[in-house]
Parts: sequence; structure tokens; C-alpha cells
Amino acid sequence: MVFKDISFIIEIAKRVILDKAYLDKLFFHYYKNFVNKEFVKFSISVLFRDIYFAEDIIKRYLKDYKKLPIEISLILYLGSILIKRSKYPYYVILNELVEFTKRKYSIKYSKLVNAVLRRILNDGNYEFNFSLLPQKSFYYKKLYEFYQDEQYFSIVKQIIFVDSEKYRKGGFFVDFLKYNSLDYLEASKYSDTYFYIKNVNDFPKEFLEKFVFQDIGNHLLMKYFSYFYKNKNSLTLEIASYPGGKSFYLFSNTIHNDFRLWKVNKLKQRLKDNNRLYICSDGRALPFKNESFDYVFLDTPCTGSGVVKTKVDIIYHLNRNDYIKLRKMQKKMLKEAWRVLKKGGFLFYSTCSIFKDENERRIEDFLRKNNRGYLVTNENFNREFIYKDKYFFTIKKFEEMDGIFGAVLLKT
Ligand SMILES: C[S@@+](CC[C@H](N)C(=O)[O-])C[C@H]1O[C@@H](n2cnc3c(N)ncnc32)[C@H](O)[C@@H]1O
Repeated sequence: MVFKDISFIIEIAKRVILDKAYLDKLFFHYYKNFVNKEFVKFSISVLFRDIYFAEDIIKRYLKDYKKLPIEISLILYLGSILIKRSKYPYYVILNELVEFTKRKYSIKYSKLVNAVLRRILNDGNYEFNFSLLPQKSFYYKKLYEFYQDEQYFSIVKQIIFVDSEKYRKGGFFVDFLKYNSLDYLEASKYSDTYFYIKNVNDFPKEFLEKFVFQDIGNHLLMKYFSYFYKNKNSLTLEIASYPGGKSFYLFSNTIHNDFRLWKVNKLKQRLKDNNRLYICSDGRALPFKNESFDYVFLDTPCTGSGVVKTKVDIIYHLNRNDYIKLRKMQKKMLKEAWRVLKKGGFLFYSTCSIFKDENERRIEDFLRKNNRGYLVTNENFNREFIYKDKYFFTIKKFEEMDGIFGAVLLKT
């Protein structure tokens, strides 16, 4: 353990909590300066996975823990979590954190850190009480509401105890250099190669610029969609395209949309394909006439509740207001996507969410109001990914991949 690394961990966690900064952006920003990269990554990840348990335990020893400076609380959380989770012996963790607090903050606080961590150790540290999570975080509250007991516990276990080494095993790389001029879905027929990826964040940046890492869930979703997406010469609209995880799979005859200009420009650079068109506009009010497209892909902005194993901070950030706003946005975007779809055309709706409101309930609500819409299913697809006989969903394989949902609607 190096003091510099502990400093980064505390600084990053503080910014995520106080400024609502994104964990992965901060991580990449500081990445070069970490001494022991594995240790920092591991510590930050378990810190956010276990923070509610740690808070619960610290509360038992310190009545007025809320009055502590956030940095000191974070050191206590980190200590209690590392004692339980890390491979370092407990006395190393204890000594280093106490010494760090003394040098960086004060003797007074270092004594407090020492006393609290020792008591946690003597009392046999903490247990994982999953039932308390829904009271602590909006994310878990929703998860419990949607999945109840059995399934809730199994999903939470997968989030809390994810083994990041195993989890990213099913990766799929898109090689920009090879495939930039080909329609990707076509190319993927010949190159279904899955790489074992030990730790995607350890790849040099130059490498990541040339290749894009795909979670296998995303790849399977596009394979599922491809059953209905066959005609190369028809016109496709992709709404909410950035960062382009799905854009690669679409035939060149596509207009890619996103709301942010920098995202549209970056996507243009990434796809490097002159036959494609790009448009920066609001997906809720598209500048197209009714029934203009044969295919419309809508990968709607969502809570990201299905990608929390890699973006742990979503659990911490999600709140009721954002949730309500997102649901309204999804409703409007779906309606607008439908408006620009031709009769006989297909609408491909997807999310990286495991919340029912954003998935099947969104679709059911839509179909109740649109009698020209029919839900169609790719019945030839692996049944493990067919949900309720109608949808694509990766929840049964959530241990191995992101939580991805998809539905295909035919306009009659
Ligand atoms: C779920 S991400 C899309 C991920 C992408 N399809 C992929 O697979 O890599 C949602 C995207 O929607 C965009 N977005 C948000 N609000 C939008 C709006 N009103 N209209 C169009 N795009 C929007 C965001 O900028 C973000 O890039």
C-alpha cells in the first residue's frame, strides 16, 4: 500500500460522492499516476460496492459519525472494507491507514481511525445485510420493488460479489482498422472471436482507440435484432447512437443521431465511413417526416441499472428525480421513433437496464396505446435470452454479462 494511492482513492471517492462525478472518468484521468493500479482499482470498486454496509458498521461505533470530515469517514469505510475484502493482512491495512491519516490530516483523527478499526477487527468485522440496502439507496429500492426476495437477493449478490476477472471474460472486440469500411454485422459472421480479457482498464489507451470493447450482452442483442434486420438497401435511423456500441452493426445506409454535437462528431471519427449520415438533434422531436425509415433503432437513455457491475457509482447516484425524468424521456422518444417508422418497418428498442419500468412495462404501455404495433420475437434465438416469451433479456446470465434488454416492434 502506498500513501499516494490511498490519497487518490479518497480523492476519487470524495468527488463521486460530493460532486456526482463519474467514477470511470476520474479513474482514467488519474490512471497514469497510480503506483499499484490493481490495488487502486480493487479498492475503489469494493469501496462503492460495500459503502452502505461500511456506513452501517461505523455508525455502531461512532454515534456522531456524520459530523466527521468526509475524508475521515471514507478512510474508515475503506479500512473496514479492506479488512474484510483485501488480500493484505489486517495489521498492514490498519497501520497504513492510521499512518496516512496522521500525516495527511491530524493525530487526533489518526487515533480515532485506529480505535474504530481495532474495534471492528475485535468484533469480527461486518456482515453483508442485503435487506438494509433498499432503505439506503434508491437503486436498491427499485431493484427490490421489481424483483422481490429470491430474485432480488440473487441479483444483489451478483452485483456485490462480482469477480471482475471472471466477469469480463465474455468480451468481444471490434477492430476499427479491419472493419471500418464493412458493415459490421456482416463482418461479425466471419469473426466471432471472443477474447479473454483480464482487465479492460489495463489496456493502453492507444489500444483502446483502435479497438472497442463490447460486452457480450450488447453483441448478443444485436445478433437477436439481426433476425429482423436484413435488408441492406433500406434506410435506417439510429437514435441515441453515442458511443456507437451498436452503430457498428448497422448497414451503411444509416443516419446516426445523438443530442450532443461533440458526441456526433466523435462518432463520425469512430465509424470512419463516408456512406453514413449523422444528425445532431433531440430524439424527442426529430426533423423527419412521418414514416421515413424502414428500420429505427432506439437505444434509449436509461438508468444504466444493468451496467452497475462496471459503473458501480450508478448505485450511488441514481435518484427519484432523474428516474422520473428518464421515464418521461423514454416515453417521448419511443413515440417519436414510431412516428418516423414506415408501415411494415421494424422498431428496435433497447436499454442497458434491468428495471421493468424501462423495459417490458415501457413496451406494454406503448402497445396499449398503439394498435398498429406488434411485438415480434426471434424464436430461433437461444432460449436463455428470451424473456417472457417475447423479449430479449440477459438477466438469467447477469453473472457473466451486462443487463441488456431488447424488444422488436413491427408497424402494421
Ligand atoms: C444509452 S446511451 C446510447 C448508447 C449507444 N447506443 C451504444 O450502444 O453505444 C444514450 C445516448 O443518448 C443520448 N441522448 C440523451 N438524450 C437524448 C435525446 N433527447 N435525443 C437524442 N439522444 C439523446 C446521450 O447523449 C447518450 O449518448
